[in-house]
Amino acid sequence: MHLSSPTPFPAQRPRRLRRDAFTRNLVREHALSPHDFIYPVFVHEGEKRRVPVASMPGIERLSVDLLLPVAEECVQLGIPYLALFPSIDAALKDPQGKESLNPDGLIPRTIRALKKEFPELGVMTDVALDPYTSHGQDGLIDETGYIVNDETVELLVGQALAHAEAGVDMVAPSDMMDGRIGAIRDALEAHGHIHTRIMAYSAKYASAFYGPFRDAVGSAANLGASRKDVYQMDPANTDEALREVALDLAEGADMVMVKPGMPYLDVLRRVKDEFKVPTFAYQVSGEYAMLKAASSNGWLDHDKTMMEALLAFKRAGADGVLTYFALEAARLLQK
Ligand code: PBG
Repeated sequence: MHLSSPTPFPAQRPRRLRRDAFTRNLVREHALSPHDFIYPVFVHEGEKRRVPVASMPGIERLSVDLLLPVAEECVQLGIPYLALFPSIDAALKDPQGKESLNPDGLIPRTIRALKKEFPELGVMTDVALDPYTSHGQDGLIDETGYIVNDETVELLVGQALAHAEAGVDMVAPSDMMDGRIGAIRDALEAHGHIHTRIMAYSAKYASAFYGPFRDAVGSAANLGASRKDVYQMDPANTDEALREVALDLAEGADMVMVKPGMPYLDVLRRVKDEFKVPTFAYQVSGEYAMLKAASSNGWLDHDKTMMEALLAFKRAGADGVLTYFALEAARLLQK
């Protein structure tokens, strides 16, 4: 229909299709399902330990024993995957993040415990150095203060292998170093882990919306005023996202991700249209915190804005969403 054509009203009355619920149900294009969600969780050492994350109401760092009932609820609700993030004891952090290579570290132990109890639940891990480095950066730092690439990639490969040996289903490198997907894929193949999936954080922006997450993993204080924009993407760019996705797919990624979510829906749409591969959005900690803050003040309706925000990802082309709302949204969908 061209703008120059005469108005078709009243032959066309779009409101006919909105008049009643049964017709709205019939013509609806997109729907959310618990199968769309990946639930990010924070783990720490010890037993029976839960510590609320102040800037993320409803989210806690949990010891592994307390994570198990959460995993069980995910299974019951049909949430297909958990994403694990560690909060590492300060004493174990160093400038190289060496604890990330420990085959019996917090994350490998958590993977084993989860896969033993709930083999039917997917476990995904972040591959990155920031929870392990004393400076909170995702990579090694040279004498000039630059985050070096190739040496960092070697450590990431070791970390990914430690997770694969522990039985992880999918690794998700979130560091934005060049060439890390190819290096991890080669190492996984060479060690017989041919089924381990890689979800690449392909278009990860240098975003201020990660603030609450950095509190949760305990990297914020260490990071101080230092920034991540010498490796994470410039929020002003979208062509660059397509280039990053193309590289990660060529290097062996099975799935790709755009992060953050809501401020980058245009990037999500471009990536899905261009590559037509499984594409995920990460509704990050700051997006969660915004909705929680506004709804706790009575300024927004919690459940409605949560579902609308999640649906936006599906509409923009996402096959699924990493979201801290996974449990709440899945419970609502089950009703
Ligand atoms: C770091 C990592 C970050 C997030 C996931 N992995 C933060 C960062 O890059 O500083 C952010 C997730 C969120 O904000 O919810 N490897």
